[in-house]
Amino acid sequence: MKSAWIWIFTLISLTAMAQQEPNYEESKVPALVLPDIFLSEKGKWIRTQEDWESIRRPEIFRMFESEVYGKIPKDFDSMEFDLAQETPNPYPEIAELEEVDITVKRNGKSHTLRINLFLPKTGSKPFPVILLINYQPKYLDGRLNQEGFWPVKELIERGFATASFHAETVAPDKAETYQNGIISTLYPEQIGQADGLKAFGAWGWAAMRAMDYFEQHPKIDSKKSILVGHSRTGKTALWTSANDPRWTITYANESGCGGAALSKRKYGETVEAINRRFPYWFADNFRKYNEREEELPLDQHMLPGLIAPRAVYYSSAREDRWADPKGEYLGLSLGSRVFSEIYGKKAVFEQEFEELKGPVHLESVGYHIREGKHDLTWEDWRIFLEFVAENL
Ligand code: GCU
Repeated sequence: MKSAWIWIFTLISLTAMAQQEPNYEESKVPALVLPDIFLSEKGKWIRTQEDWESIRRPEIFRMFESEVYGKIPKDFDSMEFDLAQETPNPYPEIAELEEVDITVKRNGKSHTLRINLFLPKTGSKPFPVILLINYQPKYLDGRLNQEGFWPVKELIERGFATASFHAETVAPDKAETYQNGIISTLYPEQIGQADGLKAFGAWGWAAMRAMDYFEQHPKIDSKKSILVGHSRTGKTALWTSANDPRWTITYANESGCGGAALSKRKYGETVEAINRRFPYWFADNFRKYNEREEELPLDQHMLPGLIAPRAVYYSSAREDRWADPKGEYLGLSLGSRVFSEIYGKKAVFEQEFEELKGPVHLESVGYHIREGKHDLTWEDWRIFLEFVAENL
């Protein structure tokens, strides 16, 4: 009797494992049937900027909001900025450090989040600004940054102001605790809504508050602003910029499933896999598409168009198959049609993914793939900054 149970248990585990095995074979990728970016829900072909902005863009935005990411509430009662002085400035020769506590109040409750901002000491003011959404927890040794991942020194030397915040200061990156930030404090009515605010939305909300701070800062040129995210915060950066038109350039590094990569390819991480491990990142509605990607009324190629005509940049790492580099490239190259066909930009990706020899930097859209593993490295930043030089 006992051995029968062991057998049943082994069978169940093997079946579960088989389901979880990611697909890394191009031959097993289903034939792609993608919703048309330019065909409206009422069957109208969208060809002009006016129709795009008044009909199709709002439709696509609503679909992403309800079916994928959930809402980012925009209202609150008051906001206050306070400067703290807790951490020694690691770059005193070249930069000023502002540790900014942003306190937001709504319905009698308040939440404070911290951003760390470095401003060049020399150079021509006001400075363009780069914000990195950092999902890594606060560094235990008290450091403010990790060079490479957030290369403050190099960015300052190139004349940028640069800021970052840890995602956990608005919504912890954990299924059990993600509500213990702005969600339960400021926006409790979102809890339990199928399209309610989740962790990505909360992180995006914090990026918007950072932008509020930049806008009133005399040394910052907020009209030249760059939002950067890696992996889970690359996904966040894209959704944030779709919600908030104040970002001039949006950079998603290796953002993969639910970010740059097409879900319907089912290559590497799938909708089911991401929702199972991270049920608190996306709207609950997204789970309807677990193992049913073909039923999604959209795909990630429709996301860059929500940011257009503002610039969008993606990058991949060759060995990062979990994030599906080819799916990321396809997402952008198909999505760039909004830039070229609606906004008249020189933004047509001519090469197939397999033919890519180096970075492709077009007008307002750009892509590179580097060798190596999943990470945000100085090499990614360096190539991205070449795109910035042409597009900011
Ligand atoms: C996991 C997750 C990815 C995510 C990545 C990261 O691998 O499955 O979707 O992008 O973590 O954020 O590093």
